[in-house]
Amino acid sequence: MSTSFTRVLALAELPVNGKKPLSVAGKPILLCNVNGQLHAISNVCSHNDKPLERGRLGNGWIACPTHGARFDLATGKPLCLPATQPIKTYELRVVEDWIEVLV
Ligand code: FES
Repeated sequence: MSTSFTRVLALAELPVNGKKPLSVAGKPILLCNVNGQLHAISNVCSHNDKPLERGRLGNGWIACPTHGARFDLATGKPLCLPATQPIKTYELRVVEDWIEVLV
């Protein structure tokens, strides 16, 4: 199986403390900008498969809006119940003011 970086969004369209849900290669991905730190995570909560895009962003984490589980944006690991499984994270890079994600 081959993987490659895919250009997904202009950097200017992801402001500080903003989020952007996208479908990349058929995968639901959520881009997050926390104080200038960019992350690409799965937009699906591991607890009950609900979208994370309306979740609150904190310092390195996102909270699921449905039942409040928090996930580490860098590793995808759950930080509190009710989630016990990680969410997927994706490698991200910025090239010529474009955000690219490895899918
Ligand atoms: S669906 Fe996310 S915590 Fe329950």
